[in-house]
This record gives sequence, structure tokens and C-alpha cells, in this order.
Amino acid sequence: MISESPVLYIEDLKTHFFTRDGVVKAVDGVNLSLTPGKIIGLVGESGSGKSVTGFSILGLVDHPGCIVNGIIRFKESDLRTFSEKELRHLRGNGISMIFQDPMMTLNPVLRIDLQMTEAIRTHDKSVDRKTALARCVDALKQVGISEPEKRLKAYPHQFSGGMRQRVAIAIALLNKPDVIIADEPTTALDVTIQSQILCQVQKLCRENNTAMIWITHDLAVVAGLADRIHVMYAGRIVEEGETSDIIDNPLHPYTAGLINSVPGNTHRGKPLKQIPGMTPSLLNLPGGCAFRLRCSRADSKCENSPPVKEPAPGHKVHCFNPYLKS
Ligand SMILES: Nc1ncnc2c1ncn2[C@@H]1O[C@H](COP(=O)(O)OP(=O)(O)OP(=O)(O)O)[C@@H](O)[C@H]1O
Ligand SMILES: [Mg+2]
Repeated sequence: MISESPVLYIEDLKTHFFTRDGVVKAVDGVNLSLTPGKIIGLVGESGSGKSVTGFSILGLVDHPGCIVNGIIRFKESDLRTFSEKELRHLRGNGISMIFQDPMMTLNPVLRIDLQMTEAIRTHDKSVDRKTALARCVDALKQVGISEPEKRLKAYPHQFSGGMRQRVAIAIALLNKPDVIIADEPTTALDVTIQSQILCQVQKLCRENNTAMIWITHDLAVVAGLADRIHVMYAGRIVEEGETSDIIDNPLHPYTAGLINSVPGNTHRGKPLKQIPGMTPSLLNLPGGCAFRLRCSRADSKCENSPPVKEPAPGHKVHCFNPYLKS
């Protein structure tokens, strides 16, 4: 089988923040390859570098941050050579971002119809207002908003939080981007709304052949959504593989810890298993494996840079002592 070429390809991406206290290596050697129509779940604890990875792709990292290394290729283009003007054209057109807070996308003082038609016409001036409005109605229907013609005339504050997030997702999908980066967009919503939105987004990606990176700290969310999962810890991907491989057969002790800490994965009445300790400060990472001070399998080898092992095709782990079947 010939594998499809990636729509987004990232190699050895390093984004560092040069702060007064020292260099924060927020992203420190991330690789990722996304093929059309596929969903990658990027999972990790708070501060592991998930958002900075997303911002780096879209050229949204500001001073004191800087991409210091790596390849970011979108189709045939090297995004690191893009000017600000080219990046503005790319955002919302080739690659869209959905933020945790829909108000990062929505303007509170403008009606939804103006915001949505503007999002279309910014990228294609030849679309007349009537055609643009018809596309907005379709987009709202696709994300499950009833009476879209009427709702288009509302302001963001007239929607509930879940509805606002649906509108933000509809805007992200408007120009049929090749890639969507979704940064924890359902984290603040209750679980029933969350699962409705997850199902709709998954369906829309499949229908439009849109590829997506879904960023979350919640493994349970991506378990039902993503084709592949990348597990991130302290700026690095420590394990990646098909979703079923990661969930059923985690190799890295950190991934296993994340799975054990999902409610429902331990026996009823027994306390949840936690990963001991805290995420380390990225200013003072221990040498070698960054997880070793919290890891029950760590030994003296782990003071060195962990090797990459690939015990099954596409299932990679960066660890000296992974859970391997002997
Ligand atoms: N402007 C900045 N200046 C200095 N450090 C920063 C800046 N922005 C991010 N960082 C640091 O980069 C690291 C990664 O941040 P990032 O926002 O990517 O984490 P995250 O995995 O998205 O976490 P969360 O789940 O809480 O959203 C953190 O240690 C953060 O403090
Ligand atoms: Mg984040």
C-alpha cells in the first residue's frame, strides 16, 4: 500500500522562550505527520507544550518566544519562510485554529452573520453577500445549530457557551481548510455537549477530508476521536501510535500513568491511580529523560537521552524501559 503524502509535516520542531529566568524549551524536538482526513490527538499535562506546538505551526509565537529549529511543511510550502501576509492568508483558509475560548475567534460587538461572511470574503472577494450568507447557514446547520437563518442575526452573548463554541467551529470550517488545529475546544463544556460536538467534528472531517490535530489533556476525549495519538511530556513526544495501540498497549510509563488516571479505568471503589509528583519546570528539567523523577521504571540509564524504539510499525516510544512484551 502506498501511504498518502502528509498535508502537514513537522520535523524536529523547537520553540523556546527566552525569559529573564532562563530559556523555556516549551517545544523541544517535536515530529508529526498528518495525512488528509486523519485526526491526531496531541495529549499531555498542563504546560507540556501542546498549545505552543499549535501556535508555532500558524506562526503565532510572539516575543520572547521563537522557533529555533525544525521543518514545518504544509503541502509543498515551508511555513517558516512565510511572511506575515502569507501567514494571515493561510490562517482560516489552509489551516484553521479552534481555541478553548470561542471569544478568541468571535468579536463580542458584531453580529454573527457579519463575522461569518467576513471570514469568507476575507479569503475570496469574488463571493457575493448572498452566496456567503447561504454558506454560513449551511455551516451552522452542519454544527447542529437549529434555525440558522434566525441565529445568524444574533450577537455572541445571545448564545450559550456550547453554542458559541459551535459557531467558532463553524467559522473554522467555513473555508474548508485542509487542516484544523483544535486547542481544547470542548474542555469547558459539559460532557453531553462535548460528546455531541466531538461526533459532529469527526463526521465533518471525514466528509470534507479535513485533517485535524486535536489538543487535549484528556486521553478519554481523543480515545474516541483520533486515528493516532501523540503523547507529549515536557516539550517532547514520548510515545505515538494508532489510537488502539496507545490505549490497549501503552509502552511509555507516562502514557500508562495517564491511562490509569482516567476515571473508569480503575476498579470501582478503589482510589484513582495518580502519576506521582508534578510536571517539572521547563526551566530546570532533569538531564536525560524528563519523566525519570516521577517514573517507577527509571534506573541509572535514564539519566541519558532516551532511545527511540518502534516495537510495532508506527508505534514509537522514547524510553529505556518501556512496557514491552517479552
Ligand atoms: N509567552 C511565554 N513566555 C514564557 N513561557 C511561555 C510563554 N508561553 C508559554 N510558555 C511556556 O511554555 C510551556 C508550554 O506551554 P503550553 O501553553 O504550550 O502548554 P500546554 O501543554 O498547552 O498546557 P495547558 O494544558 O495548560 O494548555 C509552559 O511551560 C509555559 O509556561
Ligand atoms: Mg494549552
